[in-house]
Amino acid sequence: RRPDGCGIIIFGASGDLVYRKLLPALYHLYARNLMPEKFYILGFARTDMTDDAFRERAREALVDAHEPDAPETVTKFLSKCMYVSGDYKDPAAYKRLQTKAATCDCDFSEKENKLFYLALPPQLHPSVVSRLSECGLTAEGENASPWARVVFEKPFGHDLNSALELDKHLSSMLDPSQIFRIDHYLGKETVQSILMLRFANIMFEPLWSQRYIDNIQITVAESVGVEHRGGYYESAGCLRDMFQNHMLQMLSLVTMEPPTRFEAEFVQAERVKLLRAIRPWSERTLKDNIVRGQYAAGTVHNEKAVGYHDEANIAKDSATETFVGMKLYIDNWRWQGVPIYMRSGKRLHMRESEVAVTFKRVPHSMFGFASQHEMPANILVMKIQPNEGVDLTIHTKQPGPKTCMASLSLSFKYEEVFGITPPDAYERLLLDCMLGDRTLFLSRKGVEAAWTIVDPILNFWRDHPDKAPLHSYEAGSWGPQASDDLLLRSGHQWRNPP
Ligand code: BG6
Repeated sequence: RRPDGCGIIIFGASGDLVYRKLLPALYHLYARNLMPEKFYILGFARTDMTDDAFRERAREALVDAHEPDAPETVTKFLSKCMYVSGDYKDPAAYKRLQTKAATCDCDFSEKENKLFYLALPPQLHPSVVSRLSECGLTAEGENASPWARVVFEKPFGHDLNSALELDKHLSSMLDPSQIFRIDHYLGKETVQSILMLRFANIMFEPLWSQRYIDNIQITVAESVGVEHRGGYYESAGCLRDMFQNHMLQMLSLVTMEPPTRFEAEFVQAERVKLLRAIRPWSERTLKDNIVRGQYAAGTVHNEKAVGYHDEANIAKDSATETFVGMKLYIDNWRWQGVPIYMRSGKRLHMRESEVAVTFKRVPHSMFGFASQHEMPANILVMKIQPNEGVDLTIHTKQPGPKTCMASLSLSFKYEEVFGITPPDAYERLLLDCMLGDRTLFLSRKGVEAAWTIVDPILNFWRDHPDKAPLHSYEAGSWGPQASDDLLLRSGHQWRNPP
């Protein structure tokens, strides 16, 4: 289904996210005939730029994103892109925006549907929404747009209090149905397929609990450093940047109860319930079960990489973490006692994200060559990216006259089976937003539940730096030794892909 016509107004249009993700995603939807028949894209940012300069930038973005060479389609797409510059807090700039929106396409009336995308730091969210609302741009109804939706790019707030404040502010101006909080990990094909794997197959669910699962590991490893986002990253750090959102959302999909229907209300509610079941931290677990690290110089993919302190816009004595590893528990019947290990970091050995579910060993070995404790476990690995797919390790008889065992992998590779690489997460989420489907977006309660888990860690680090040392790790490694030790203490180890 194609969405109804709409204007897409992007704040922060000269920024990195718009260049790398949003413009290519919108183009890709357009090239696949999934954009509305009538639409325009109106960029807004402080940088002074003409429409043509913005179009040129958009063209470069498409080239950099390796979009297929289709000059006519690109030209048509670019003709729908416009730009307005101004200060995010200046009411006059919004008037210009409003006038431009009205003239963007002669087929459009001011009362067309509107999608506002705030690719901006959270401090700017309240003023932008206030100004939009003052101009009547977010109004919905008979004498206004049939719908006006606002997408908020993460981070949603800086901590629990600021997220609550922001919510209060937004709900005084917008109806909850107009608010779309994005976490692009939920739009990844392989993250969505966690739900399909769990709930479209009968064979996993009966085993999906503390009775048969020994531990779960979630890794999101990046080989890149902070790139040119030093300013943002210094104030965020890995915990806010990756755990408050992506990591916890993935965890909730892997461990939540089955929703009754694949609809926003049901899916969001189960995700929230799961997050609320995560065992609260104690001073002991904050100290013993969480490791933070920061990369030092090293070699990544055979190239020298500078340490975090030598990256652009980073304070020489910065204590911002670029790696976090943690162990946590979920206090409910299904997951009691199952350790969940999660880690994410920049400048790690390679880019690799996966969810690995390690099952318990068989309860008794009938084979003379191995005791019960020597029998290897089955491991189900959901490969999120790259090399998207699923691997299930099973054990079988090694051919030959003797009774020997061989371990092998039943695996499926997304690209081989479907013949395409998975589309970018933003495509799906932008389309869902235009269609008004909130299933893959975050609810207010979901964001709060995630901050409730992350806030005590941030406070502990701030108040007790002596009890939570910042470990250094070499760029190109798998993180600090303390992260390996965290698992070794429980008799486990990280699965480090070769
Ligand atoms: C973003 C973070 O949300 O996710 C970045 O701000 C991170 O720091 C990125 O690099 C990772 O996303 P992906 O889709 O490349 O895995």
